Amino acid sequence: MLQIAVLISGGGSNLQCLIDTMKDSGEKEFSICTVISDREASGLKRAEKAGIETHLVDRKIGRPKLSEEINRILSGKADYIILAGFLSILEESFIEQWMGKIINIHPSLLPDFGGKGMYGMHVHEAVIQAGAEVSGCTVHFVDKGIDTGEIINQMSISVDRSWDAVRLQKEVLKLEHKLLPQTVHLLCEKGINL
Ligand code: GAR
Repeated sequence: MLQIAVLISGGGSNLQCLIDTMKDSGEKEFSICTVISDREASGLKRAEKAGIETHLVDRKIGRPKLSEEINRILSGKADYIILAGFLSILEESFIEQWMGKIINIHPSLLPDFGGKGMYGMHVHEAVIQAGAEVSGCTVHFVDKGIDTGEIINQMSISVDRSWDAVRLQKEVLKLEHKLLPQTVHLLCEKGINL
């Protein structure tokens, strides 16, 4: 059974989906071994409620120490790391060490609307501003760039002209909640290699 660590920075609705999937499958496919947040985040409560070990590693300690501390927590414990709304940038040495084992979910159809500063609502605002007719979400391996790693899985949605960024975020989040568990299932069933 795969041991999965989930890293968050916010509300953790994607984390909740993974918790529900894990419980629904009788914890046979994968187990969430730990949840780490880089700030006080309400998502940590979701993990605590599910009886999962949690860690708060404050991003204010700086990028090198943050990566070092996360590595210390995860070493020998996690098979895969899922970034589910985790907003800190990890050190290159950390990425190298975990290459092919870190997966991120991003709220657009990468490579569109990815890169520095493109996270959360900023992504949806940019999509609306660009007048894009289609958006969606992407699950990809993490490499040393920002949102540049190899794409594993995507889901798309037509953007209604009447939607604003808030509505788009809501619709894309619904897709994320399907895409992420589906991808983890693929990982467990077939194994996905970089
Ligand atoms: C999700 O929309 C996720 O795709 C996004 O943060 C949100 C977290 O929501 N991630 C990024 O923008 C990363 N670039 P959640 O805390 O409710 O799961």
